[in-house]
Amino acid sequence: MIEASIFYRSMPGGYFLKLLESKDASALFTTIEANKTELSQWLPWVESTRSVTDSRAFIEESLRKNKRNENMIAGIWHGQKLVGCIGFNEINLHTRKAAIGYWLARNYRGKGIITESCRVLIEYGFGELMLNKIEILCADQNLKSRAIPQRLQFKEEGTLRDYLRLHDQYVNIIIYSLSRRDWHAMS
Ligand SMILES: CC(C)(COP(=O)(O)OP(=O)(O)OC[C@H]1O[C@@H](n2cnc3c(N)ncnc32)[C@H](O)[C@@H]1OP(=O)(O)O)[C@@H](O)C(=O)NCCC(=O)NCCS
Repeated sequence: MIEASIFYRSMPGGYFLKLLESKDASALFTTIEANKTELSQWLPWVESTRSVTDSRAFIEESLRKNKRNENMIAGIWHGQKLVGCIGFNEINLHTRKAAIGYWLARNYRGKGIITESCRVLIEYGFGELMLNKIEILCADQNLKSRAIPQRLQFKEEGTLRDYLRLHDQYVNIIIYSLSRRDWHAMS
């Protein structure tokens, strides 16, 4: 039974998004561990995720921020299996801006799951959180990630130079955004 306040959305193909809860820590750690090599290529926090305790701490901190409307991190589930994560890593209800982040387990890529999950978050962000702007930040070499905002008709805003520290190197970040005006024009 899912509480009314818990973010939950079903998607085609038996996938669903659900706010991460403490009881998901083991599933989260298992999927991160099984996909560590690919995920750590682009996500700096993966290296320091070494145990279920780390995943539980991440979820509990996320839930504290969620209660203050500062983020919303959801698991992407296929039945009982957690196959990835997506969420608003940062929400600012004063400026009405939020940034989406995502990752997916190896065997679930190439099916459009993240693109569809982003559509769900975009509807939620503009339709319920009344955001004005949604951003996606991608490392410039991360072409699979950049393809997602491009596919969703986000606009490329520019480059943040040497912005992200990845494996002791500083990499450029490309900012993509969709504004409320763009969203209205698309619907
Ligand atoms: C970034 C990442 C999530 C992209 O995963 P993905 O599976 O390519 O993205 P989607 O789930 O949206 O699927 C898109 C792919 O499915 C295909 N596809 C199939 N059916 C589709 C549909 N109905 N709609 C959209 N795409 C579809 C697309 O053609 C595309 O494949 P292609 O790249 O071979 O052209 C994944 O590579 C990842 O987890 N990387 C590591 C973590 C990471 O980089 N996170 C982002 C940090 S900014």
